[in-house]
Amino acid sequence: MTSKRTARLARALGLVSAIALVGGLPASVALSADGPVTPAQTLHPEKWPAATASRLIDPAIEKKIDALMAKMSVEEKVGQTIQGDISTIKPADLRKYPLGSILAGGNSGPGGDDRAPAQAWLDLADEFYRVSVEKRPGHTSIPVIFGVDAVHGHGNIGAATIFPHNIALGATRDRDLLRRTGEVTAREMAATGIDWTFAPALSVVRDDRWGRSYEGYSEDPEIVAAYAGAVVEGIQGHYGSKEFMKPGRTVATAKHFLADGGTDGGRDQGDAKITEEELVRLHNAGYPPAIDAGVLTIMTSFSSWQGIKHHGNKQLMTDVLKGRMGFNGFIVGDWNAHDQVPGCTKYNCPTSLIAGLDMYMASDSWEQLYKNTLAQVKDGTIPMARLDDAVRRILRVKFHAGLFDKPAPKDRKDVPAISTLGSPENRAVGREAVAKSLVLLKNQGGVLPLSPKAKVLVAGDGADNIGKQAGGWTISWQGTGNRNDEFPGATSILDGVKAAVAAGGGSVAYDKDGKFTSKPDVAIVVFGEEPYAEFQGDVETLEYQPGDKSDLALLKKLKAQGVPTVAVFLSGRPMWVNPEINASDAFVAAWLPGSEGNGVADVLFRNKDGKVNRDFNGKLSFSWPKTAVQTPLNRG
Ligand code: GLC
Repeated sequence: MTSKRTARLARALGLVSAIALVGGLPASVALSADGPVTPAQTLHPEKWPAATASRLIDPAIEKKIDALMAKMSVEEKVGQTIQGDISTIKPADLRKYPLGSILAGGNSGPGGDDRAPAQAWLDLADEFYRVSVEKRPGHTSIPVIFGVDAVHGHGNIGAATIFPHNIALGATRDRDLLRRTGEVTAREMAATGIDWTFAPALSVVRDDRWGRSYEGYSEDPEIVAAYAGAVVEGIQGHYGSKEFMKPGRTVATAKHFLADGGTDGGRDQGDAKITEEELVRLHNAGYPPAIDAGVLTIMTSFSSWQGIKHHGNKQLMTDVLKGRMGFNGFIVGDWNAHDQVPGCTKYNCPTSLIAGLDMYMASDSWEQLYKNTLAQVKDGTIPMARLDDAVRRILRVKFHAGLFDKPAPKDRKDVPAISTLGSPENRAVGREAVAKSLVLLKNQGGVLPLSPKAKVLVAGDGADNIGKQAGGWTISWQGTGNRNDEFPGATSILDGVKAAVAAGGGSVAYDKDGKFTSKPDVAIVVFGEEPYAEFQGDVETLEYQPGDKSDLALLKKLKAQGVPTVAVFLSGRPMWVNPEINASDAFVAAWLPGSEGNGVADVLFRNKDGKVNRDFNGKLSFSWPKTAVQTPLNRG
């Protein structure tokens, strides 16, 4: 009698004879979710980098896991593999649905308020934790793990230190700085009782039309590989040292496995029509260093390779990532992304777990998915051995994260206080990152660096707009609708200019439209992309402001008035801005600097003694196009 699963495969395969299925499929037939794979879809684990060292396997922890699993019911085991979003699950729900994890997705916040203050996050984390470990008859106490997207600092919270996005950090070429940004992010998260960040993204961005280009460090696999380990160590601590996952550190996530930045046309969640060799050489570059640094979780990508959705690709998740590359943490899915696997819905997808996913990000589908998955374990559709492996991996991460030893979030004494969010020391790291990330694209006639004694006009809609300078994944998912007063302690680029010029004895006037009564010595015009995230940032070409050249008009007006102009361009990617560059005397790629806008003036202005205060350091980690359609355009 073929099991339901085999019957599903029979339907999917069609061609394979029932006899073969009754005897189980020949091991050589590689399967994807919707049938046998073609040669172009076949992976060869021996062609991938082998694990260089065993990570995360600690005999003492494995023994604790054995003991715990022996006590767990099958309901509790299935529960561990499912994560629900706080917009749909309440702490009390964990009594009926023993989920292993919760998350706050892009637009989720405590009490449905994604602008909730830090204390509200700590209170919520504490509430969920206590329910998950409370003593109840028949209940095995297993702490829930709470994940958020702290992808450029603890960006859900406006009071936090919000770092430049990865595209800017890639331009710094400073591994130690990136480690420090990871450390600060982890500490500010730990202060709010949250134990897991879905970062760093290790995307190798090959087509800048992709709406997530700014989440990648570079187009160049060498740069991504150079940073991956440093950022993971900053967030988690150095693997093997006493620093590893001690209080003040959080669990990291290498994402999105694999080739999220390699899709056709840069379409988010699209298909990477590339060879296995390119997968390995380009897109896999950051994963071995991350695994070697002890990264505890890896997130599977929404996207697909050669038409196979990653969330259903057993060759990739099991044979390559866990087998050949030796990843011993757990694989978490993306936001209901399992529903894109043929034959699946967000409520019902044994294929993903069987393929090697360990935890479903079942944001609003967790209740039904739990029931269906439990039934599929009981009827054998999902082998118990696979469930046990997934649970073991999840518990392994929770033990390494110290969750079983820590008290509830509000009782944790050895973590930074909430008042340290956005502390001067933390913001200083952000300010340094901003200054080191700026890339000078043009400086005609030596207009830069500016004198702080000058009469400065600041213009453009990005000059006094902290939300615009921070970009996506900031307070809200898209990073839109954010007011300056929602970032207490942050500085806009204008704030930084004012401080630099005040120190030097000059004067500053701000007019968004560049109007002035008495002619300034120089104008700083800050403009660029409006915030966006994910597929909402996908574009057809790299032309800046197609159809509306208002910023170019502003630059031209100032030029026509004979005012030397410094353009400060805010963007999540290189764009075609030749007209804007030609209309400026100096042009600075400032990317998405985050909360420390004062880092820009640190580089634009001499200090009050007239010396260079901080020279330009940033180097492009993405190729800059000469035309609006010159993409993909990559080194080599
Ligand atoms: C999103 C993103 C992923 C993020 C997750 C949780 O769709 O793809 O990067 O971590 O959902 O917000």
